[in-house]
Amino acid sequence: MKKNIIVTALIMLMAAWNVTAAWGEDGSRLWLRLDANSTPATVSGVKCMAMTELQTYWQGGPIVLKRQKGMAQDGYTIKSQGEATVITASGDAGLLYGAYHLLRLQEMGLPCQMLDIKEKPFYDLRILNHWDNPNGTVERGFAGKSIFWGDKDVNSEDFAASMKMYGRANASLGINGTVLNNVNAKPEALSTESLQKTKAIADLLRPYGIHVYLSINFASPIKVGGLKTADPLDKEVVRWWKDKVNEIYRMIPDFGGFLVKANSEGEPGPQDFGRTHADGANMLADVLKPHKGIVMWRAFVYAPQSPDRANQAYLEFMPLDGQFRDNVIIQIKNGPVDFQPREAYSPLFTAMQKTPMMVEFQITQEYLGAANHLVYLAPMWQEFFSFVKPASLKAMAGVANIGDDANWCGHHFAQANWYAFGRLAWNPALTSKVIAEEWVAQTLGLNPDTSLVTTPLPPAGGIGGGAVVSMMLDSREACVSYMMPLGIHHIFAGTHHYGPEPWYSPKGVRADWTPPYYHKADSIGLGFDRTLNGSANVKQYPDELCRVYNDINTCPENLLAWFHHVPWDHRMKSGRTFWDELCHKYDDGVRQTRRFLAVWDAMQPCVDAQRFEEVQRKLRIQVRDAEWWRDACLLYFQTFSHRPIPQDVEHPVHNLDEMMKFHIPITMYENPESGYTK
Ligand code: GCU
Repeated sequence: MKKNIIVTALIMLMAAWNVTAAWGEDGSRLWLRLDANSTPATVSGVKCMAMTELQTYWQGGPIVLKRQKGMAQDGYTIKSQGEATVITASGDAGLLYGAYHLLRLQEMGLPCQMLDIKEKPFYDLRILNHWDNPNGTVERGFAGKSIFWGDKDVNSEDFAASMKMYGRANASLGINGTVLNNVNAKPEALSTESLQKTKAIADLLRPYGIHVYLSINFASPIKVGGLKTADPLDKEVVRWWKDKVNEIYRMIPDFGGFLVKANSEGEPGPQDFGRTHADGANMLADVLKPHKGIVMWRAFVYAPQSPDRANQAYLEFMPLDGQFRDNVIIQIKNGPVDFQPREAYSPLFTAMQKTPMMVEFQITQEYLGAANHLVYLAPMWQEFFSFVKPASLKAMAGVANIGDDANWCGHHFAQANWYAFGRLAWNPALTSKVIAEEWVAQTLGLNPDTSLVTTPLPPAGGIGGGAVVSMMLDSREACVSYMMPLGIHHIFAGTHHYGPEPWYSPKGVRADWTPPYYHKADSIGLGFDRTLNGSANVKQYPDELCRVYNDINTCPENLLAWFHHVPWDHRMKSGRTFWDELCHKYDDGVRQTRRFLAVWDAMQPCVDAQRFEEVQRKLRIQVRDAEWWRDACLLYFQTFSHRPIPQDVEHPVHNLDEMMKFHIPITMYENPESGYTK
């Protein structure tokens, strides 16, 4: 589907101001000046993208773009000098980021005079991971097909236009890397034919400062190269990788490197040949090193060395701490299980001391209502950073929520998560609120100050950008409440992970893919005992946290059933029993979604009709789903607790037997878009 132009915050679409530009030498400095009526410019034959963007969208006075050696990579300054605004950076990327900063101020209606701004990114590597397959499907993709693969003709004008929008959107946020294919990588990603497509994409994204990376299948030497083994210590295997990497760099001199999922969920890896993760990662690192390439090696592994899946990555990786080359980064999901609405942080982050690490967040909402639920994820990512110091990491990766749907992300508000990921990768100290305000102001044209709305005034006072921002800020906790409050986790429907199936436990499916493994509901209580008397997962955390988590009376209540098998009558801080608290939490979650719908309904006069209706339709689905979650979970857990649902909680409207028979017939490559009913 052809995209329409509604990713406003991302690409800052503004009325073009008809200026032309000139460039020249100013002493030792190369500079560019935007002045009316001069000739169009190029720098060393390549059109400077910062200039193009400003030429098209800047509505203010003259701009000087200046290169200056010695500045931080990708950093920039913006200074007002008389009538002019001077953007200084050491390279094109920095100039471009500076230009977007200025355009962001303009688009948000903030003052663009008397500027004295100095910025540099917190992380050098700010990277999206696309889980896109060669056939164009996107694993856990809820926004249509891949923007890169499938039937896309990489040489067509349409494709170039779409890459241009994608490049601008990312660059406007400071994202500077993208992995083009699924971590469950098909070997053909390294075929010469596929590499030619990768080259075409790299060429189109280069002007936006974006480097491309590929996920690789560890068995490629066998499957693509026809060798008998993929043993990383085998000379022929190493030679094969060297040749392959040389081939890639001949085509794409600024290729970023590889992302590797190995010995996880059936993917091949060095352990198939009796070698370790370090052996595999280091071999690839060595062949990439001469080209300045890197290896992002994932720690998402859970071979059953312990009866608790949350223990397993730590058990596999801790013995290897310090054994990786310096161009290997271990990529670790924020939590030790799998992108749940709330998890404790992965203890590897505080345990590994000698290995470069990066966090992997999931922007696509695999476990958060897909592209149907409004769940703003910045608060979740900030919660992670309240435990794991940003400075202890080398980089930030996000599993993209982007597809070829008209609005890119399947839900207008899902764009805010792409936006928030980029902004946090640039500066993890930005607050969720500030990021939401930026997005709301730029995308919806609403002033985040509740009392002010830049477009027609709302019917009732108090509704405006501020109301939308607070709805966004509350949305993640609301989702936790109506899906899995108080530390409950992984009670989703099998396979597609949409909707509740706490009972899902078909024969033959490995236990740690089924909800009863995680919730362990019985007549005593609910939750996974990870204390020292249980799986001892608490021991993987620093001592102080270990003590806090180990004791049911000090463990934060929002992680109670994560770390404890909580008795139904355990007394909570509210004075309620655990069972009553659970009922109230589910009920709160449902009420919150109704409130979100009411907030949005009141926004009708302030938002364009198409966007209003599309978001409203999704919010109605979210209310319906929240009720479904509440009813399924409470009625199912009640068969264990044998306790009544408190009087002051809205009672279920569904029937448990019917809900247990209900299945949505979708795969892991699509959004449950239309027509599914319970
Ligand atoms: C989850 C997800 C898979 C994905 C895997 C991964 O398990 O459901 O689709 O492949 O994570 O991150 O590798």
